Amino acid sequence: MFKVDFEKYNSNYINDEKINKYDEKLLNIKKEFTNGSLNQWINTNTYISNEELNSIKEVAKRVREMADVFVVIGIGGSYMGAKAVISALSPKYDINRPEIVFFGINMNPTDYNETLNYIKDKDIVVNVISKSGTTLEPSIAFESVLSIMKDKYNEEELKNRIIITTDREKGTLRELVNEKGYTSFVVPSNVGGRYSVLTPVGMLPIAVAGFDIDKLLLGAKKAIDEDFDTAMKYAVIRDILYNNGKNIESFTIYNDKLFYFTEWLKQLFAESHGKNNKGLLPISNINSRDLHSLGQFLQDGKDIIFETVIGVEDEGEYIIPNLNYDLNRLNNMAVEDVAKAHSNGNTPSNIIWINKIDEESIGELIQFFILSCITGGYLLEINPFDQPGVEEYKKFIKESLKEFN
Ligand code: PA5
Repeated sequence: MFKVDFEKYNSNYINDEKINKYDEKLLNIKKEFTNGSLNQWINTNTYISNEELNSIKEVAKRVREMADVFVVIGIGGSYMGAKAVISALSPKYDINRPEIVFFGINMNPTDYNETLNYIKDKDIVVNVISKSGTTLEPSIAFESVLSIMKDKYNEEELKNRIIITTDREKGTLRELVNEKGYTSFVVPSNVGGRYSVLTPVGMLPIAVAGFDIDKLLLGAKKAIDEDFDTAMKYAVIRDILYNNGKNIESFTIYNDKLFYFTEWLKQLFAESHGKNNKGLLPISNINSRDLHSLGQFLQDGKDIIFETVIGVEDEGEYIIPNLNYDLNRLNNMAVEDVAKAHSNGNTPSNIIWINKIDEESIGELIQFFILSCITGGYLLEINPFDQPGVEEYKKFIKESLKEFN
């Protein structure tokens, strides 16, 4: 269980009376989690079975032995979770083999030319991830990588080097698996993209990157067993702040390894709650860097933001030469001092402290935010599992695509 502080830097907005008003609503949502329609979310077997875990570990071992680059093709929920976990856990400068290359998140020729040129002479294994199997960006990325791979490898070799993660039955990618016999994993039909990092969607890339996927699940289980009420309370705090005129939540960090974790949070909350003219706009602040940019607005700008800070208690030891400052202590003092300053200004803060950045704590954070996000969706009276707005741009692109025929 991690430590949280939802009240110290929030006192102008939050008090027990306001929190208690949510008791009945929370009781009903809790019932859905324990016995009703949300029950799957308090069981990590929803994400992945033991059989799939073992199979992912075997495939990951094989990939690590044979590949220079593991190209992960996917967008949105089919990409962001794995990117967040791998970035959080990887050392900053060591490029381990295989290098994980994320591709298919844009339609930009510069990225295409540079990435394809970078991988073309390397030993490639590709993992295409798409629940629907129809999303344009990963489809065209796969065509491009496949074309390079076909120049290098025969049909038999391609079978060893193409891994597809998609729906169990539906979609063009599943048809391809059935036709060619490629290795495949299943995106569970009841887990939407942005909630899918602990399914094979995220677990295979994370295992190939060399991280312990059992420990991630252990952390998620810990969140279910130990942090469930705190996750619900966080949803309530967000809702109170939202109803008091806050429009923006900043996920604020003091270790830039968590940058992509804040990107995952932005996706999770924006895509789940941003609908029917409702929702908080999630942004991020990467400190100390952003204390010298957005920090000015948080302190003194329009009164529309609150922060949720993820602090890390133990980041290892570094003592500043001559000055004798313990940098871990200094960084964590800054977490408190900045929250104090911002809350004296216009931006109250929630703080979530994890002990250190490892598989278990990241798994715990993921599940904590998933439970909060679902709860918050019900408090907002929206469906946290759909994303009708994402479909709109696709319609226009589909029309434009006709120009190529
Ligand atoms: O959270 C979501 O559902 C989305 O972000 C999807 O993951 C994203 O649109 C990609 O969809 P797909 O996996 O079907 O290609």
